Amino acid sequence: MPEFIVTPWEVSGEIDYDQIIKEFGIEPIDQKLLIEMKQITKEIHPFLTRKIFFAHRDFKWILDEYKEGNPFYLYTGRGPSGSVHLGHVMPWLFTKWLQDKFNVELWFQLTDDEKFLFNQSLSYEEAYNYSYDNALDIIALGFDPKKTFIFSDIDLAGILYQNALKIAKKITFSTIKATFGLDNSSNIGQIFYTSIQTVPAILKSLIDEKNVPCLIPHAVDQDPHFRLSRDVLPKLGYYKPASIQCIFLPSLQQGGKMSASIENTAIFTKDTPKEVKRKVNNAFTGGQPSAKLQRELGGNPSVCSVFKYHFMLFTLDDEEIKKIESRCRSGSLLCGECKNNLTQKINAFLKTHQEEREKAKDRIDEFLIKEKLDLKEIVQEKLKKL
Ligand code: TYM
Repeated sequence: MPEFIVTPWEVSGEIDYDQIIKEFGIEPIDQKLLIEMKQITKEIHPFLTRKIFFAHRDFKWILDEYKEGNPFYLYTGRGPSGSVHLGHVMPWLFTKWLQDKFNVELWFQLTDDEKFLFNQSLSYEEAYNYSYDNALDIIALGFDPKKTFIFSDIDLAGILYQNALKIAKKITFSTIKATFGLDNSSNIGQIFYTSIQTVPAILKSLIDEKNVPCLIPHAVDQDPHFRLSRDVLPKLGYYKPASIQCIFLPSLQQGGKMSASIENTAIFTKDTPKEVKRKVNNAFTGGQPSAKLQRELGGNPSVCSVFKYHFMLFTLDDEEIKKIESRCRSGSLLCGECKNNLTQKINAFLKTHQEEREKAKDRIDEFLIKEKLDLKEIVQEKLKKL
């Protein structure tokens, strides 16, 4: 039995990211690459220095092409099966930073089709509605509307299908089984699905009628899809898509992943200040059983979910995080104070996010693209011509 599982549809166990690098065949992001990037971006995001974005495929090629005047575009996505949590937001914040620093387009895929096919209890309408709900979270993060194109797969089905067909023809069922662990009991939509997730990696090439490099920021669970994309797209005359990949924001509980269905494991963007406080207060920490022991022995930030939330999202200042860590280890920082501090930071973030999310309701048309697919209209138009 493996000690951990990482697939696009299941993440569990204590993840060993070094092992993932070897097994997936992705490359660690090294210092040299960061120096090269800094020549363009002038500064380096803490997600990179802290190895939260830790691995890539062909990112150096992306930088080389960019420097030579062949800029890339960004592509990322969301499977809308429910509300957005802070883990999802992490790669999107980084995507926004990349968009700002490189001044490039972003294509954002909402895979309502995927979630409908893979989630037995989710109806077609629910998945589609979550696309629009989740789009508000994306817009709230401040992407540039002139450079950002968000679409639901259902809304862009025609264009996606035309291209997915060409991709699907080059992938066998045995490859799908080996890559995703699907089997004879999987529904046939699941088997086809990965070809739809590949298409946005060529959308800008189709528009510009020339090959455009594509960079995909995502957490490492999505890599199997793009490993296949990289095999297939050159066979159709396109570049291999590049990627930049992050680790997972962990559950607030001990070990394991965040889960929408398990209370207290994740913080959602719609949570109230009270809910956040309760979840953080109930979080698993590296603290001692009593304040007295904590003062004597100190805590252990390396197993503490509260510290991980500070480190990965809410205390990005290096001096400040060092202080939290050393105060924790020495026993001068107790869990209560540290949790309060985190609660305040999360609630400050969510306050702004929720305000922006409200405003996004009036701005959705600035970002979303869809095909006109009204069958009644199509039929009427045909009959008018007679
Ligand atoms: P989804 O909705 O599962 O996740 C959306 C994005 O969030 C990442 N992610 C996380 N990152 C950090 N910590 C976590 N705990 C965490 N959980 C999820 C995912 O890797 C993803 O980047 N099939 C995709 C949707 C998709 C997509 C893409 C994602 C379509 N095209 C291109 C990335 C890039 C999905 O269901 O993502």
